[in-house]
Amino acid sequence: MKAVIFDLDGVITDTAEYHFLAWKHIAEQIDIPFDRDMNERLKGISREESLECILISGGAETRYTNAEKQELMLQKNHDYQTLISKLTPEDLLPGIGRLLCQLKNENIKIGLASSSRNAPEILKRLEIIDDFHAIVDPTALVNGKPDPEIFLTAATLLGVSTADCAAIEDAEAGISAIKSAGMFAVGVGQEESMLGADLVVRQTSDLTLELLHGEWEQYRIKSV
Ligand code: BG6
Ligand code: MG
Repeated sequence: MKAVIFDLDGVITDTAEYHFLAWKHIAEQIDIPFDRDMNERLKGISREESLECILISGGAETRYTNAEKQELMLQKNHDYQTLISKLTPEDLLPGIGRLLCQLKNENIKIGLASSSRNAPEILKRLEIIDDFHAIVDPTALVNGKPDPEIFLTAATLLGVSTADCAAIEDAEAGISAIKSAGMFAVGVGQEESMLGADLVVRQTSDLTLELLHGEWEQYRIKSV
């Protein structure tokens, strides 16, 4: 294992909740029911795709012009940025600071594969941006998760072969992307929503380098 590539929202910090709150606000304004089940389907996917999913779920896919959709996304992002402006290093999810330290001590490269255009700002607020050897720019990609492009790009930027990378995700689309990239997939969440993951932990506090090394060895033995 020469590199670990992280998703951001829901893995490094609980901004998945802020995305939920900001989309809920928009959905209420346009009279479309929005709950946590619906929100699960938006995890890992882009802002544009998220709005399309919400509109389709409300039978409103043809109700808005492109300019109106842009306005809805601007509003969502404005609400979201208000929420993330309060983030501090205290908002790192449990165990993530320790894992980053362990990776640095072992000279394992650290990458970020987040679909969020707000990712650099969040990493700055959490005061961990300097720990990352590579941060993928999602605006430079052709395909979003579950396409593997974001993870393949992270591996290229880190200069590490995909077979030597582990990646951590909290979304189904993310796990699919990691597996399609040929990497060791770690899911954070409930086993049933992490189909295809090579290792699932219930919460980030369970993520230690010892656990990753141990499971990595098993995975390598099985894949030979
Ligand atoms: C992903 C989130 O990380 O980023 C999605 O899981 C979000 O919920 C996507 O829609 C895009 O984020 P942003 O900050 O660019 O709107
Ligand atoms: Mg996520």
